[in-house]
Amino acid sequence: MFKKIVVFTGAGISAESGLGTFRDVGGLWKKYNIEDVATPEAFNKNPSLVLDFYNQRRKQLLKSKPNVAHLSLAKLQKKFNLVVITQNIDNLHERSGVKNIIHLHGKLTESRSTLDNKIYPINNSELNLGDLCSKGGQLRPNVVWFGEDVPNMNNAIDEVKSASIFIIIGTSLNVYPAANLINYCLKSQRIILIDPNPTRINGVEIFAKKATEFVPKLVDDLLSSNN
Ligand code: APR
Repeated sequence: MFKKIVVFTGAGISAESGLGTFRDVGGLWKKYNIEDVATPEAFNKNPSLVLDFYNQRRKQLLKSKPNVAHLSLAKLQKKFNLVVITQNIDNLHERSGVKNIIHLHGKLTESRSTLDNKIYPINNSELNLGDLCSKGGQLRPNVVWFGEDVPNMNNAIDEVKSASIFIIIGTSLNVYPAANLINYCLKSQRIILIDPNPTRINGVEIFAKKATEFVPKLVDDLLSSNN
């Protein structure tokens, strides 16, 4: 029975794939107001602006690829039961070969009916006003907006509770309930945080490094150790 490693990622792991973070210098929330593009009220008020915001990010995603941090994490599956819990809506963990992924904030590559929440893939990069579900309802991005429930949170908590090692990569731990995950770690677990500007937390092994600088080394150490 392989030991379980849970990896909790944020925008920082995709930064070196060319996808912007939110709260860094030059981050997305420095260019856009959350209230204009990432809330249900914003979508009701100006759906085209919201759809365009996600179309821009989807176009960027189509031009990006997993970096060595994503690819290294996938190697852990050789020796561990790996679960990746991500706040990211990109598909870089999937494209790196990780099999067991929980998206807390949805997926940029999917749309959802505003009538019955049925999910439809977005095969190219655009989702526009007038793109309708099979029942004639407008499609929206299948992402979790501020103020909306995080349906996968309980599943994520269960995974964290049963992990031997909990690794946090590239998140400012600013957004709840996602950031609460660390509070479900048991005392017996090893907790590792990798971030060039880390949030200091007691009892956590902090490595103030970029994901591509440190994750490959950490993965090699875990694969070679007799954990
Ligand atoms: N490697 C690792 N970490 C990095 C790198 C890098 N190369 N570059 C930046 N970071 C770190 C930053 O130091 C910061 O701590 O990534 C983190 C990014 O933080 P945020 O921009 O707040 O992104 P995130 O924590 O994922 O935001 C959470 O907020 O807006 C919502 O839904 C959105 O899922 C998102 C959530």
